Amino acid sequence: MDAVEALTTRVSPLRLGSESPEGAALENILNAGLRAPDHGRLRPWKFLLVRGEARIRFGTVLEEALRRREPTATERVFRAEREKPLRAPLMVVVAASIQDSKVPPIEQQLSAAAAAQNMLIAAHAQGFGGFWRTGAPSYDAYVKEALGLKPADAIVGFLYFGGVATPGPAKQPDPSGVVQEWTGNA
Ligand SMILES: Cc1cc2nc3c(=O)[nH]c(=O)nc-3n(C[C@H](O)[C@H](O)[C@H](O)COP(=O)(O)O)c2cc1C
Repeated sequence: MDAVEALTTRVSPLRLGSESPEGAALENILNAGLRAPDHGRLRPWKFLLVRGEARIRFGTVLEEALRRREPTATERVFRAEREKPLRAPLMVVVAASIQDSKVPPIEQQLSAAAAAQNMLIAAHAQGFGGFWRTGAPSYDAYVKEALGLKPADAIVGFLYFGGVATPGPAKQPDPSGVVQEWTGNA
């Protein structure tokens, strides 16, 4: 698949399979992340790989964080939270490790988000699927600490990668209302 095809056909799979990008495929994904535009060349990124047994340990972290945020939630909800990392063979937590710089923190986060998108595209180009999740755990101090991040660091996404078990819907992008010609004429 060439780059334009990858960029114009990426879609989040509905379900991921157990095949994991490893070796050269994973290296390509991570190298694509490292190609993100980066104001000031700060490299404010952290790509944390969570796979194998570590997914179970990270599930425990997610569950504990939820117990602290919502102590009255049901056991079913706690279990669902704990099992989230098992949805895919590989999770990459993409964070912006905010540097003290004249480059505003938002731009450092945007750079990390660009890295995340590059990784999703690189996975798709190699026949793998990936989807992006955030939610309350992204902003949770307990989760950040467990991942070795600082309170000021920003988790921009939990990227789940695997084979494509159930593809997402093929979409026809609709540019209306998004793409406009600005001419400067009144
Ligand atoms: C920053 C960011 C965070 C997201 N977080 C979630 C999330 O927590 N839960 C969710 O269902 N979708 C989330 N999404 C959206 C999905 O990843 C996905 O893009 C969306 O369902 C549309 O599907 P598509 O990727 O096939 O266009 C997020 C997307 C972005 C860019």
